[in-house]
Amino acid sequence: MKAIVHVGKQGMEGLSLIDAELSALGPNEVKVRIKAAGMNRRDLMLLTRHKENEPYLILGSDAAGIIEEIGDHVQGIQVGDEVIINPSLGWEEKSSAPPENFQIVGLPNHGTFSERMIISSKNVEKKPTYLSWDEAGTLALAGITAYRALFTRGNIQESDTVMIPGIGSGVATFLLQFAKAAGARVIVTSRSEEKRKQAIELGADLAIDTYSDWKEELKDEQVSLLIESIGASTFNKSLDIVKPGGTIVTFGATTEDEVTIDIRKFFYAQQNLLGSTMGSREEFVEMLAFIDKYQIKPIVNKTYSPEEYNEAFTYLKNSENFGKLVFLF
Ligand SMILES: NC(=O)c1ccc[n+]([C@@H]2O[C@H](COP(=O)([O-])OP(=O)(O)OC[C@H]3O[C@@H](n4cnc5c(N)ncnc54)[C@H](OP(=O)(O)O)[C@@H]3O)[C@@H](O)[C@H]2O)c1
Repeated sequence: MKAIVHVGKQGMEGLSLIDAELSALGPNEVKVRIKAAGMNRRDLMLLTRHKENEPYLILGSDAAGIIEEIGDHVQGIQVGDEVIINPSLGWEEKSSAPPENFQIVGLPNHGTFSERMIISSKNVEKKPTYLSWDEAGTLALAGITAYRALFTRGNIQESDTVMIPGIGSGVATFLLQFAKAAGARVIVTSRSEEKRKQAIELGADLAIDTYSDWKEELKDEQVSLLIESIGASTFNKSLDIVKPGGTIVTFGATTEDEVTIDIRKFFYAQQNLLGSTMGSREEFVEMLAFIDKYQIKPIVNKTYSPEEYNEAFTYLKNSENFGKLVFLF
């Protein structure tokens, strides 16, 4: 079967499209014929995290497809069901942090960028019927991350003014859609004027330049909840703009991981700083119900054939995307 893998060389040079083997089906597993598989920043990061001397790794954490075969002990799933893959492995119930054995589809085990995949039956949910294959195939990882960051961790309220730096990001477009559906005021930033325009069309109340002076731009705005994923390049600006007693939830570091903060300013302002990562199966199901209620559709920026893997990875690396990029298998 066709699969986009990382093997041999570090970085983009290690990418290739190969004819890969499918593992045997276990009694609690299902075989999925993948129709669409969305990309995430994580796919780029794995190009250095997966080592050059290791066997090939099928990349990808997101996908939607059709059940082709079920293991002997699988119940409640039929051949022919249209499903979406939940990439959170080993995290069933909502909890303050993931369990120790928590892993993400795509490393250390094979991921979703292939024509077929074998996965635990606990990691497939019914595909929302109103979503197309490309939309369903790119919902899971970014959708669950946005949902937990905003609702479980951020405890978003209708009265909140939410700020989302870097709106071009796949997760950020979900954050915007979810926060608007929850009734909050939403301010976003982007380095790109075109993306700021797209964000306003998607429902943002205000869009400012990531590199501008936020305090000057926002004047009397009181940001009560800020969802940060850019990391070092914006973190201190984010901390500085959140009102006293307000909350920052952070789940990413697209730029650098390490940040120095003025803790005196921080503790006087009595802000809350919360980490977040992906989410449990319980939250995944809640997220599916939430998007169904508000008929939210993922923003698919571009679709690619598997053969176009170099173009797709380059587009993501250069942050040209507004929303999600998807391989159609
Ligand atoms: N912990 C978790 O569970 C989890 C889950 C999902 C994602 N993440 C992390 O969250 C981040 C976003 O993921 P994603 O897949 O949505 O990423 P993405 O689609 O690649 O988006 C990243 C965005 O960051 C902004 N950005 C990039 N470089 C920048 C720079 N030098 N200065 C300022 N802004 C910059 C860009 O926004 P503009 O182009 O609009 O400026 C870009 O669209 C990544 O770091 C990812 O690893 C973590």
